Amino acid sequence: MKSLKFGLIGTGFMGKAHAIALRSVGTAFPSVPSPVLACLVDSNAERASSLAKSWGFAQSSTDWQGLCTDPDIDVVDICTPNHLHKEMALAAIGAGKHVYCEKPLALTTKDAAEIAQAARAAGVRTSMGFNYMCNPLIELAKQAIESGEIGEIFSFCGNYQEDYLSDPATPFSWRCLRAQGGHGALADLGTHLINMAEYLLGPIASVMGSMTTVHRQRPDPASGEMRNVENEDIAQALVRFACGCTGTMDISRIATGKKCGLTFEIFGSKGSLSFDQERMNELRVYKTSDDEKLRGYRTILAGPQHPDYAAFCPAPGHGLGINDLKVIEVKNLLKSIENDEAIFSDFDNGYRVQMITDAIYDSSNESRWVNTEAAAN
Ligand SMILES: NC(=O)c1ccc[n+]([C@@H]2O[C@H](COP(=O)([O-])OP(=O)(O)OC[C@H]3O[C@@H](n4cnc5c(N)ncnc54)[C@H](O)[C@@H]3O)[C@@H](O)[C@H]2O)c1
Repeated sequence: MKSLKFGLIGTGFMGKAHAIALRSVGTAFPSVPSPVLACLVDSNAERASSLAKSWGFAQSSTDWQGLCTDPDIDVVDICTPNHLHKEMALAAIGAGKHVYCEKPLALTTKDAAEIAQAARAAGVRTSMGFNYMCNPLIELAKQAIESGEIGEIFSFCGNYQEDYLSDPATPFSWRCLRAQGGHGALADLGTHLINMAEYLLGPIASVMGSMTTVHRQRPDPASGEMRNVENEDIAQALVRFACGCTGTMDISRIATGKKCGLTFEIFGSKGSLSFDQERMNELRVYKTSDDEKLRGYRTILAGPQHPDYAAFCPAPGHGLGINDLKVIEVKNLLKSIENDEAIFSDFDNGYRVQMITDAIYDSSNESRWVNTEAAAN
């Protein structure tokens, strides 16, 4: 496969993570040609220009529309605030580009469906930024479930808790606006948890949600004036999977002390699995088949026996980090383009995640169970 030319839009938290991954993927995975870092775009011209130099991009620009239609660009990589994803993704797809987009795909189910449909019709390859599912230990958990090693699955108990807005003095940002950040913590963190749950256990069929805003005002970073927060700090849901198992989800951006608390426990008839992203190199497994005297949760450390780990390190227990998960995510996208095959976390998955997000929101507003396929707006 030829080296693909990437145009990256956005130079914040995720822009940097994507740039690191684009630069590293060919080193970690020599079977994929290193991407060409063709152009870095940001609305702030000075930032785009100086970061393009330090991150190794050939050019910089403030014109994302121009990037999307540039015949020299193969893949458009979107790392901008949530409300910009739709317009940018549709422009890139319209110009026949492959698209890599941070989560969530859009702000509404209708918009996410439109983007996923456009990508399918154009025949381009897509990837969402659902990096946590790229952990080699998540693959191991999936295999343990699918092989029947932990038996019939009874329940899923998942959380995604962080504390980045637990202090009410933390300034207002785009994440606090419904029209830019979507449904608050649910859009920001819950989307990762929904993706993870469906990756491991299959489709979520119905949900019963409850959402709350605790800190209703925050200071504007420029004026210091208090502004109304428009979306929710906490989202909780009961979920029912199509496979018959039930689950709970607790999602919060004000969970004091939690830094990246994406956790899940899965209970089955023959065992259990337990994972915590803050200890992302450990998977805890319990098996009823163990000798009773020695039975208990064992901790499996990530190592080269778990596919994709060895690309980074030959020694077990030394550990991967979040940027390594992004490298694996980029490798998966490049392989998807090379083989012209869809990956799990493509825009169709982005659409499903948005549909379930909206179902939890609708359910909370209407105090009733909502079937996920019925959530349409
Ligand atoms: N996958 C993950 O784990 C993860 C983590 C954090 C954020 N995200 C997602 O990544 C996206 C970006 O979040 P972030 O934390 O990097 O935000 P950020 O605020 O740090 O960065 C956003 C960037 O977009 C740029 N930008 C804004 N409007 C633009 C425009 N019109 N044209 C060009 N550039 C523009 C800003 O200047 C900034 O550089 C969001 O959708 C967020 O949900 C994903």
